[in-house]
Amino acid sequence: MASLRGLICAGGEATRLGELTRVANKHLLPVGRWPMIYYPLQLLQLAGIREVLIVTGQGHAGQLIDLLGDGRFDERGGGGPLFELDLTYKVQTRPGGIAQVVGMAEGFAAGGRLVVCLGDNLFEYAEVAAIREFAEGDGGALVFVKEVPDPERFGVVVYGEGGAVVDVVEKAGAVDTRYPAPPTRDAVVGLYCYDAAVFDLVRGLEPSSRGELEITDVNRAYAARGRLAVRRTSGWWHDAGTHEAIAEIGALVERTGANKVA
Ligand code: DAU
Repeated sequence: MASLRGLICAGGEATRLGELTRVANKHLLPVGRWPMIYYPLQLLQLAGIREVLIVTGQGHAGQLIDLLGDGRFDERGGGGPLFELDLTYKVQTRPGGIAQVVGMAEGFAAGGRLVVCLGDNLFEYAEVAAIREFAEGDGGALVFVKEVPDPERFGVVVYGEGGAVVDVVEKAGAVDTRYPAPPTRDAVVGLYCYDAAVFDLVRGLEPSSRGELEITDVNRAYAARGRLAVRRTSGWWHDAGTHEAIAEIGALVERTGANKVA
């Protein structure tokens, strides 16, 4: 089995959150009873991953280290161990895109495979079985999709005959103008698994129309090589990009639980 390490993208400026992120890093804001970043950390831990790299913006690493330390701590109030992880931190000095963050993990991945979580994405189910299958499989990339009512906000996949993914389109009409509107409603969610080929692909990227190295371009390159697997997420999935979403997801987590193992 190839070695599997985790990466959490916790940078970005989160300007859409206004006053909430003037000082605090977005990924430390409360979602239900936990700071947001606990959820991707828990997902990686449930998948059996121990070594996790957290990439965040300059001025925010200190806050994350204050909260998470070396990645091993007990739940407050007498609970048992909450996390038994081995954390590493890196600073992204300007938000150059999710693919740039992935590129920063090359040394950390040490030739093994990488599970990438966007720090603001939360899941009802932790997708543990699919991640373990990827670890045992023949490499390539694995992404997860969810049908959404507002596909213009996301990257979406395009299927060819036979159901294989033939294209991936980032915010159709805005970032990717090859399509005036999203060609499907199957949004790519913020959980990606890659083999070590990802780093050469990142090196070959050009910034998009929004000035970022796009993870969607990485996924399209895997699709073009016939090396992109797609799974549908079970249960709900949300990104916590606005204060309304953060409040709604917090209530949802309390009602249904998050990161459940089916
Ligand atoms: O939420 C899923 C979507 O995430 C996908 O469908 C899109 O294909 C993907 O591009 C991404 O879309 P967004 O444009 O909404 O991503 P956002 O800028 O909100 O960043 C997502 C997370 O990644 C967020 O927690 C901050 C972190 N990030 C982002 C950037 C641009 C970084 O750590 N560094 C960065 O440079």
